[in-house]
Amino acid sequence: MSEKVCKVAPHRGKLLVLTPGLGAVSTTFIAGVESIRRGLSRPIGSVTQMQTIRLGQRSVGHCPLIKEIVDLAPLDDLTFAAWDVFPDDAYDAASRAQVLSPETLEPVKDFLHDIKPMPAAFDQRFVKKLDGPNVKPDTSRRELAEALRADIRSKIDETGASRAVMVWCGSTEIFTRPSGCHATIGTFEQGLDQNDQAISPSQLYAYAAIKEGVPFANGAPHLNADCPALEQLAKQRGVAIAGKDFKTGQTLMKTILAPGLKTRMLGIKGWFSTNILGNRDGEVLDDPESFKSKEVSKAGVLDTILQKDIYPELYGDMYHKIRINYYPPRGDAKEGWDNIDIFGWLGYPMQIKIDFLCRDSILAAPIVLDVALCLDLAQRADRSGIQEWMSFFFKAPHVAEGHVPENDLFIQHMRLKNTLRVFAGEAPITHLSENFEGA
Ligand SMILES: NC(=O)c1ccc[n+]([C@@H]2O[C@H](COP(=O)([O-])OP(=O)(O)OC[C@H]3O[C@@H](n4cnc5c(N)ncnc54)[C@H](O)[C@@H]3O)[C@@H](O)[C@H]2O)c1
Repeated sequence: MSEKVCKVAPHRGKLLVLTPGLGAVSTTFIAGVESIRRGLSRPIGSVTQMQTIRLGQRSVGHCPLIKEIVDLAPLDDLTFAAWDVFPDDAYDAASRAQVLSPETLEPVKDFLHDIKPMPAAFDQRFVKKLDGPNVKPDTSRRELAEALRADIRSKIDETGASRAVMVWCGSTEIFTRPSGCHATIGTFEQGLDQNDQAISPSQLYAYAAIKEGVPFANGAPHLNADCPALEQLAKQRGVAIAGKDFKTGQTLMKTILAPGLKTRMLGIKGWFSTNILGNRDGEVLDDPESFKSKEVSKAGVLDTILQKDIYPELYGDMYHKIRINYYPPRGDAKEGWDNIDIFGWLGYPMQIKIDFLCRDSILAAPIVLDVALCLDLAQRADRSGIQEWMSFFFKAPHVAEGHVPENDLFIQHMRLKNTLRVFAGEAPITHLSENFEGA
């Protein structure tokens, strides 16, 4: 695609943000947007709301906000709807999650009370530690998918939105691999008709969204739209998709630090990461099968950043270990420790210790916002299929078959910004010197 011909249809009307899951992350996101709209808070951590973008040569000093040059939906246009296994409205769910204080929630209480979750398409075999009453009758995969499609249509009608996006903010499902039904659109739809249990609930949401022309992103690490059937469907329906697993907490730190160490050609012998968290997400991840989904997504990050095949002397023998421990007293206030054994000049060893007292959902909420707005932008720019340029937001970037995912935060960032420049009708920036002939 030539950057000259990239046309973005202007945003008009309301944008409905649909979230399967009305838990810690999604309520922190929704409450935050409303609090910001009422002028009570600032959108800290959101690239689309706070970041500037340089246009032209550095010496010109033209650095408008991203949202001033790219036609992103304004926060005032956002409207919300969700599904959850529990019937708590967004206020009760946010209070239960204990991420935001009563002082933050109280002024937006009326708004949050009005967001009541629709009954979920749920199958406990995919999230073993959850059992809630707000679920659709256990009929067939086909009927559940059709019910979700009907939900999407009726929420669009009810809210008067002109368009929608869906971001999976539901629990992490167990680790699965694609099976026969995930091979093509045909086998997937046959699987729906035959009630194939290999189709997970989160895939029903992804399918329903794509069928309804609604862009979809997966914020969790399990298998979802990253299978040939749903990738093909997204292309066929002209729908943008992205994923997966929001890049927050310990992995965010990893993708900040690892590229820096590699850039300096410092070796790494071992990287041990452990953390404690006590929210519902932590409880779900206490099940080994859900943890496996998370472990795979977290572990892949260092491999692609460090390129041990190219640098065997520096990273060939690196030992990488990840632990997640459910520890209820901490709630959402996770603590993550990293011990990194590195080596430098002549092989002399050194150590780095990180103790990150982080707030998971505070880091994730602005990503949900940015992902929702970027998906909508991509859709209006007629970009269908996998949005690799959105890798910046994810731990395990969803890329096309045969493509190598990029996990280095700084390369992802450059790509994100250059894509946004193209969407704004501007030239990408190469970072070559201004005096360099032809730069
Ligand atoms: N918080 C972070 O920093 C972070 C980072 C990366 C990924 N994630 C992922 O985001 C997701 C949400 O995290 P959270 O902290 O909000 O968890 P949470 O447990 O607070 O919320 C998840 C909600 O999803 C609901 N749910 C489960 N299955 C569902 C289904 N089939 N349909 C509808 N609702 C369903 C649950 O009832 C729960 O209320 C998790 O998968 C988590 O792994 C979170």
